[in-house]
Amino acid sequence: MSQKPWEHAKSSGSEADPVATRFVASLDVDQRLYPHDIAGSIAHATMLHHVGLLTVNELDTITTGLNAIKSEIDEQGESWPGWKVELEDVHMCIEAALIEKIGEPGRRLHTGRSRNDQVALDMKLWIDQSIAVLLKKTESLAAAFAELADRCGEVIMPSYTHMQRAQPIVAGGEALAWASCFNRCGKRFWQLDDRLENPLGCGAIAGSSLPLDRQFSASMCDDINAIAPSSMIATASRDATLDMAYGLSMVSMWLSRWAEQWIIYNSTEFSFITLGDAYTTGSSMMPQKRNPDMLELIRGKTGQVYGSLVALLTMCKGLTIGYNRDLQEDKRHLFSAY
Ligand code: ARG
Repeated sequence: MSQKPWEHAKSSGSEADPVATRFVASLDVDQRLYPHDIAGSIAHATMLHHVGLLTVNELDTITTGLNAIKSEIDEQGESWPGWKVELEDVHMCIEAALIEKIGEPGRRLHTGRSRNDQVALDMKLWIDQSIAVLLKKTESLAAAFAELADRCGEVIMPSYTHMQRAQPIVAGGEALAWASCFNRCGKRFWQLDDRLENPLGCGAIAGSSLPLDRQFSASMCDDINAIAPSSMIATASRDATLDMAYGLSMVSMWLSRWAEQWIIYNSTEFSFITLGDAYTTGSSMMPQKRNPDMLELIRGKTGQVYGSLVALLTMCKGLTIGYNRDLQEDKRHLFSAY
C-alpha cells in the first residue's frame, strides 16, 4: 500500500486496516476536483516562491509536474494509476503522484498548507465553474419562456388564486412570470459567485507562522480573489456549498411548480395546452392517454435536491468551530444536487 505522506512519522495509521482505509476515503466523490486542486496548488506554490519559500527551480519543477499530472488525468480519467484509495482523497493522490514524479520539491508544496484549506478552495473553484454553467442554463430557460410569451402574448386565459378563476390575463403574462423566476434564480447564483472568499493560507485552522502572502495566492485564483477574513471560519464552514444547494433547491422548486401547472393545463379537463408527443408517454392499456411523464419527473426529482440541502444543513449543525471530518460529506450532497 502507498504510504500517506503525512503518516511517514507514525508506525501506522488508518491504512493498517483496509476497512478503515475505505471508510475514510472520499476519492470516489472528490476525483472530479482534480483540475481545481491542481490550479490551487499552482497558486499556492507561486505564492511560496513569491515570499522566498521556494526557489524558482523548485517552483518550475512543481508547476511542470502538476501540469503533467493534469494532462495524464485528462487523458486517463478514472484509470489514472495515481488514484489510490489508501491515499484517501484527490489532494493526497495528486501530491503523492507529484512526489513520485519530481522527488523532494514535491514535498515542499505542502509548506504552510493543510488539506483543510485545500479542500475548501477546491470546492469554491468547483462552485465558481459550475455557476458559470448554471448561469447559461437559467438564462436559456428564461429566454425560452420569453420567446413563448412572444408567441402567445395575445391569447386570453384566466389566472387563478386559490385555484379559483381570478382575473383575465394573456398567456404571455404567465410565460413571463416563469421567465422572471428563472432570471432571478440565475441572479441568485451570480450573487453567490460574488461572495466567494479565498481560503488559501488559512491552513488547518489558524493560518501559519510562515510569511505567507494570502492576497498574492488569492490573486492567482481565477475569480476568487477576495481573501476569507477568518481562517477558522474559512476551514470550518461550508456556507458557499449550502448557498449553492439552496440556489439549486430554488431552481428545482420553480421547475416543479411550473411542471405542476402545465400538468394541470394539459389535462383533458383544462385542455389549455397540448404537450408534444415527444414529451409524453402512452399507455398500452388506455390508448387515449398521453401521460406528461417528463413534467412529472421534473417535479419528482425536486425532492432529491431538497434532500441534499437538508443533509448539508444537518451535517453542519452540530459541529464545533474548526474542521471536523463530517465536512468531507459535503461533496456528495452538492454534486448530487447539481
Ligand atoms: N478529504 C477531506 C475532506 O474532503 C480532506 C480534509 C482532511 N483533513 C483532515 N484534517 N483530516 O474534507
